[in-house]
Amino acid sequence: MGTVLIVYGSSMGNTESVAETIQDVLENADFDVTAQNVNETSAEDVKNYDYLLVGCSTWGDGELWDDFVPFHDELSTISLQGKKGAVFGCGDSNYPQFCNAVDIIERTLTRSGMETAIKSLKIDIVKGDVDEQIDTIEEWAQKLADSLQ
Ligand SMILES: Cc1cc2nc3c(=O)[nH]c(=O)nc-3n(C[C@H](O)[C@H](O)[C@H](O)COP(=O)(O)O)c2cc1C
Repeated sequence: MGTVLIVYGSSMGNTESVAETIQDVLENADFDVTAQNVNETSAEDVKNYDYLLVGCSTWGDGELWDDFVPFHDELSTISLQGKKGAVFGCGDSNYPQFCNAVDIIERTLTRSGMETAIKSLKIDIVKGDVDEQIDTIEEWAQKLADSLQ
């Protein structure tokens, strides 16, 4: 079905767990998936895959998780023309800028030429742990799989 790179930035592991569930669903749909921490990823890596999924939690006052900043800066300098993908992340709706990192990244990817396959996934940890929201994540990932086929 094609190759997928999932890049995640996660402080406490919530967005990493979301990435793992998305990986499982896509692998069941016969995609060849690599999931890796943003710390181990450079924008050049993106060129080796058909599809790009990016996950990042929101920190500070609506900011990217710190580890994500260098990769995000790199993404804004390369062309993602012809690339298709989507963005996801965890946040807390008690903060005024809920999941703003997802929106920041989506804007950057769009500016760099990536086609958005599906509306982003924002997991609100106020609704429960990531494990408790697995149905929502699996449903999103299945829709994503369908849109990439
Ligand atoms: C100091 C602090 C600031 C935060 N700021 C925001 C924010 O501005 N917007 C938001 O949606 N969530 C915010 N959060 C919530 C985190 O994004 C949330 O806990 C998320 O699940 C962390 O996911 P991670 O483990 O993948 O990093 C903040 C959390 C802390 C502790």
